[in-house]
Amino acid sequence: MDIYVFTLFPEMFTGPMETSILKKAQDKGLFSLHLINYRDYSLAKHKNVDDSPFGGGAGMVLKPEPIYNAVEDNCPLQGKVILMSPQGQKFDQQLACELAKEESLSIICGHYEGFDERIRNLADYEVSIGDYVLTGGELPAMVVIDAVSRLLPGVLGEEESPLQDSFYNGLLEYPQYTRPRSFNGMEVPEVLISGNHKQIALWRRKESLRRTRERRPDLLENTNLTIEDKNMLAEIEREELAKDE
Ligand code: ADE
Repeated sequence: MDIYVFTLFPEMFTGPMETSILKKAQDKGLFSLHLINYRDYSLAKHKNVDDSPFGGGAGMVLKPEPIYNAVEDNCPLQGKVILMSPQGQKFDQQLACELAKEESLSIICGHYEGFDERIRNLADYEVSIGDYVLTGGELPAMVVIDAVSRLLPGVLGEEESPLQDSFYNGLLEYPQYTRPRSFNGMEVPEVLISGNHKQIALWRRKESLRRTRERRPDLLENTNLTIEDKNMLAEIEREELAKDE
């Protein structure tokens, strides 16, 4: 996958994008990151990319030409264009999976107090990473790149498959344990040491359901639950009721 990022601060990407799994994935050629500074596409004498808002008001607004010129000069026609903005659709695992199917992504990072409304016309998606306002779209763009690139074939090893992720199947992940079996009086559940793979799978599914019910009951409403899942949830309900008594 080719990922093009349009930003005034390409240097912000170097640390996070050149570390660990994302670095290995790029070294293996599984995706390529192209950082484009849209200041280079400003037609203004001093290369400025913002101006005061029509109608007055405080702050500066990103001008449309540098961004249009940069995107039109670099983006493959078939790829999707994403505009990072707190007004966009909320980013989630489902959108990450959808974007991971594309051959190329172009991500526009807004900055300053705002951007010219016409920039929105360039975008196939306007994406927010949450209901808070950051100083720019660079950190949100890195969140999207991280979540999407780890879904690309070959980025994670076989045993770290994204199929096990929280949210992948609409549920939160089950609790995980490693050595030691006993730590500060906290024990690893017996079943995980039993070697009985069927029982372990059942326990994990049940704990995944329990955790989702406790922390994110909203997710259960949008997930296809099997009869076995529903039976487990009923059992969990009885267990929780018994605990309260
Ligand atoms: N730019 C500033 N805040 C943002 C957010 N929450 N999501 C995406 N882009 C942003």
